[in-house]
Amino acid sequence: MEVANLGMNDRPMRSGAGPAMLAEPMPDAANGGTDPIIRIAGVGKRFASDTQGSEPVLDAIDLTIRDNEFVVLLGRSGCGKTTLLNIVAGLEKATSGSVLVANRPVTGPGGGKGMVFQQNALFPWLTAARNVMFAAQSRGQSKAEAAALAAELLRLVGLDAVGDKYPSELSGGMQQRVAIARALALDPAILLMDEPFGALDELTRNEMQDELLRVWQVRRKTVLFVTHSIWEALMLADRIVVLAPRPGRIVLERSVDQPRPRSRTNPGLLALHEAIWQALQAR
Ligand SMILES: Nc1ncnc2c1ncn2[C@@H]1O[C@H](COP(=O)(O)OP(=O)(O)O)[C@@H](O)[C@H]1O
Ligand SMILES: [Mg+2]
Repeated sequence: MEVANLGMNDRPMRSGAGPAMLAEPMPDAANGGTDPIIRIAGVGKRFASDTQGSEPVLDAIDLTIRDNEFVVLLGRSGCGKTTLLNIVAGLEKATSGSVLVANRPVTGPGGGKGMVFQQNALFPWLTAARNVMFAAQSRGQSKAEAAALAAELLRLVGLDAVGDKYPSELSGGMQQRVAIARALALDPAILLMDEPFGALDELTRNEMQDELLRVWQVRRKTVLFVTHSIWEALMLADRIVVLAPRPGRIVLERSVDQPRPRSRTNPGLLALHEAIWQALQAR
C-alpha cells in the first residue's frame, strides 16, 4: 500500500470535501465493479448445540457481491449476521451450501480477506503504532515502511497523537480505531466488518464512516459490513441486504442509488428507510 494514497484526512466527505481531493481517480464507486468476488450459494448453518427440530441459524442464503461493491448486512440482534460473516471469513463452516471468494472455495481466514470485529484484541504489550506496524510487517513491509504506514493510518483514524500509547492507556473506542488501522495495514482486497463502529460515540462514528468510504473509494476494496443501524447502512451501502431471524434469511435487498456524500434529509433515503424498517419487523 502506498502511503501517499491514504494521506487524506481532510474530512468530512459529507460536508463537501469532494472527490477532487483524492490522490487517485475515483472509481465508479456507487455501482461497484461488475465481476463477482464473493458468491454465497445456498448457505445454511446449524450449530451442533441446536436442539432437534430447532430452526437453523441461517437458511438458504444466496448473495453475490461484486468486486469493489459495498454491501451492508442489516438485521436485528441474533439474526445470524456474525455467523454469516464468519462463514465468509473462513472462521466458521457452513452446514450446507458454498462460499466462493475470487472463484475459490473458502477454506480459512486470509487470502485477501481482512476482518474487523465488534471487539478487537490488540497486542497489549505493543504500542498502538507497533500493533499497526505488526500487520504491515506481516505482509513483508520493512520496519521503516511499516512505521510510515502506521503513522499514516493512525492519522487516518484520528489517532496520530497516541501512536506510542499502549492499548490499556486508550479508551475502548480508540482501541477499536487502532484495530481498524491494523486491518487496513494488511491492505486486504476484501474487508469484512462486524459492527466495527458499534462502540464509538455518534460523532466519531460518523467520522469513521466517512473515512471508511474514502478508503474504499480510493483503495477499491470490496466491503461486506454488518450493522443493526438502518442509518449506518443507508449512509454507507451500495446495496443493503436485510436479514430476519429464525431462521436467518434474506427478507429484502435494495440498492442505494444515491450519490455520496449522503444526507439524512434525502427523500430517496427516507423512503428506503421506511421500506427497511418494515422489512425489519419480520420475525
Ligand atoms: N457458536 C455458537 N453456538 C451455538 N449457537 C450460536 C453460536 N454462535 C451463534 N449462535 C446463535 O446463532 C444465532 C445468530 O447469532 P449471530 O450470528 O451472532 O447473530 P447476530 O450477529 O445477527 O447478532 C443466535 O441465536 C446465537 O445464539
Ligand atoms: Mg453479531
